[in-house]
Amino acid sequence: MSLALGAILLLFSARCTVLVAATPFNISIDDSMGDPFTGEQWSYYPPNLWNVGQNCSGCTAHPDPSDAYLNTWHDSTFYPQPGISPEPNVPTTATITFNGTALYVYCMIAHSSVSPDGNTDMTFMIDNEIVGGYAEAPTGQMSYDYNILVYSNDALVPGFHTFTLINGHVNGNKSLVLLDYAMYT
Ligand SMILES: *[C@@H]1O[C@H](CO)[C@@H](O)[C@H](O)[C@H]1NC(C)=O
Ligand SMILES: *[C@@H]1O[C@H](CO)[C@@H](O)[C@H](O)[C@H]1NC(C)=O
Ligand SMILES: *[C@@H]1O[C@H](CO)[C@@H](O)[C@H](O)[C@H]1NC(C)=O
Ligand SMILES: *[C@@H]1O[C@H](CO)[C@@H](O)[C@H](O)[C@H]1NC(C)=O
Repeated sequence: MSLALGAILLLFSARCTVLVAATPFNISIDDSMGDPFTGEQWSYYPPNLWNVGQNCSGCTAHPDPSDAYLNTWHDSTFYPQPGISPEPNVPTTATITFNGTALYVYCMIAHSSVSPDGNTDMTFMIDNEIVGGYAEAPTGQMSYDYNILVYSNDALVPGFHTFTLINGHVNGNKSLVLLDYAMYT
């Protein structure tokens, strides 16, 4: 092997190593398909208070599936008062585990005041600590906003983390969540 060719190969392999080891990239975790790399799936609690949004005829929220990531979302309503929900005053949660340094969470937001009641009241936890929230009162408009970044954090310690979205809070207002997907780096 000539010295020049050897040098080129050395450069090439060094560059490849750098690309593989250091270039960060984003992975999307769909609400229904989960993490395409690890197979990790969202867990929804209580399970009977979550619906597969695009398939849910009993749900009042009907956003346009073609505007949702992979055309899917999960729908849940928190009801403080008894009589409507089988589990009143229980905030509903969606949880996912990922290995990364950044996380971005996307929802659809309903703005109508009735059917659906688009009140939004979410709290976020990472590794069992509250790290943020997203609240928005309905405006009364019969419209949805898509691809809304409700939580982002690009300063996580490298490694495994557990993210939990909490919809509603005990003795709070009725609230709706339409979870579309999360993305991590
Ligand atoms: C991942 O996506 C977020 C949100 O769009 C963006 O700000 C960030 O730069 C992306 N990171 C990488 C490594 O592409
Ligand atoms: C949703 O509905 C589609 C067709 O309408 C069906 O193929 C799919 O299995 C359903 N998904 C779930 C999670 O129920
Ligand atoms: C987590 O991700 C980092 C960076 O990609 C990787 O070096 C590490 O091996 C991963 N940990 C596990 C247990 O997969
Ligand atoms: C419920 O919503 C009303 C109107 O937006 C607000 O004034 C009130 O503080 C909320 N209550 C709770 C417990 O969040």
